[in-house]
Amino acid sequence: MTITKHTSISQSINRSESTVNSLEQRNVLYEKFRSKIIHNPCLDRTLVSFQGNKESKFSWFKYREGFSEKLVQYLIETFKPQPGILLDPFSGVGSSLFAASNLGWDAFGIELLPVGYFAIQARLTAQDINSKILNIVIAEIKKNNFSDYYDSNFVFKHLAITSGAFSESQEAELVGYISYCHQHITDDKIRKILLYAAFCILEDISYTRKDGQYLRWDTRSGRSKGKKEFNKGEIFNFRDAVFKKINQIISDLSNINNVVQLDLFNDNINLQITHKKNNIHVYQGSCLDILPKFKNNNIDFIITSPPYINRYDYTRTYALELAFLGCSEEEVKSLRQAMLSCTVENRDKRIFLEKLYIGMNRYSDFIEIDSTFKNQAALQEVVAILDNYRVEGKLNNINIVRMIRNYFYEMCFVIYELTRVLKPGGVIAMVNDNVQYAGEEIPVDIILSDFAESFGLMTRYIWTLGRGKGNSSQQMGNHGRSELRKCVYIWEKPVL
Ligand SMILES: C[S@@+](CC[C@H](N)C(=O)[O-])C[C@H]1O[C@@H](n2cnc3c(N)ncnc32)[C@H](O)[C@@H]1O
Repeated sequence: MTITKHTSISQSINRSESTVNSLEQRNVLYEKFRSKIIHNPCLDRTLVSFQGNKESKFSWFKYREGFSEKLVQYLIETFKPQPGILLDPFSGVGSSLFAASNLGWDAFGIELLPVGYFAIQARLTAQDINSKILNIVIAEIKKNNFSDYYDSNFVFKHLAITSGAFSESQEAELVGYISYCHQHITDDKIRKILLYAAFCILEDISYTRKDGQYLRWDTRSGRSKGKKEFNKGEIFNFRDAVFKKINQIISDLSNINNVVQLDLFNDNINLQITHKKNNIHVYQGSCLDILPKFKNNNIDFIITSPPYINRYDYTRTYALELAFLGCSEEEVKSLRQAMLSCTVENRDKRIFLEKLYIGMNRYSDFIEIDSTFKNQAALQEVVAILDNYRVEGKLNNINIVRMIRNYFYEMCFVIYELTRVLKPGGVIAMVNDNVQYAGEEIPVDIILSDFAESFGLMTRYIWTLGRGKGNSSQQMGNHGRSELRKCVYIWEKPVL
């Protein structure tokens, strides 16, 4: 086997001077996919995003990036009404897995962050809980003053960016509750659910709010760095918040079906928890690492939403939850690097991927993926333009170009592997948004669809959400005042 000399992704791009300041390649690509870009009025924000579905059942943990389970139902009913095997390689809190499982599918998920993995595990545990024991435990715990159980073995191990997130009294209650759960709750499943209830309310009882790329600090914390005062509104008392959350969990699990609002403080609660057989399997780790180990031609439907290239840093946004789960600074840093590159801090994963494919005796696959990435002309065009802007000092962060390259490089591997594991006749539905940097549109939808077609998939639709059909780069003009497309792409693997 001949192995090429290691190069970074930036060195491996065929840069052409003629691409600088041109929209040509993006317009060619737009023309290729124009007839597939269709506005689907069924896909409004309420159907697609978790945020639009705040009231839905089982949304115990506010995962802002999650999509709604109704979207998954809609996609399954539209494309694959017969149950089979579903995969979501970016599972988050498992919306696609649970929705598919409820429709009788076997669902496989991959999620890198312990936050989503813990949420999925907790929800699975909740479905399998012994209601009698739960009733007894709840009756018992409501008598407690949690701070009395404070045990320094269970202190909240803050990360630098979460330090001071709770008032002293709130933190004492939180740690007391955690200590109580570990020391006095002997049933593993019930302990997990009670701890999960605390995990779900960390933001509510803290001085922080998850905003954009970082945690935003309320001025009352004394830690606020912003010039402007920020007041997040009510900071909930730990005890009220945790019981409210437990109440919500029990209410969703009970077969009373929202008819009666359960009151945890009533001694006569006698709940029947619905038991469900689960057919959900989740792997914790990076899909770049795990997908290549999946069998060929085995999956019927892939429904997924990768991170968008928008500099959103999950490891900072969910720092409180990562700290709660015991992640150290080092672990958080390595999770940040393992994530699909969507922050300016992410470094190139080319060497890691090359070694991985060599180790699996699949070096020719590596070369095919690597060259598909290099030959995607619209991508190279926009990367060259942005690189020029970088040199001219027009980007507000010099690593934006690296992030964009790395994102597409990694997505090229993901799409290759998804194509490989999909059965002929199988379907992929991917939710993603286009982005723009320094006024330059990056048509993520058609670039990824072009990767998919290079690997043998067919694009059936690029469904746009929002007001209507998205614009081409040309129509947008150089400083894109028009709407950027937010899409669900539907790709199919032809039957041989
Ligand atoms: C847009 S969110 C998907 C949310 C999901 N659809 C849901 O309903 O919860 C993208 C997810 O991909 C995860 N992720 C990022 N990089 C990953 C990787 N390399 N492997 C697996 N998961 C990854 C993130 O932690 C995040 O949960």
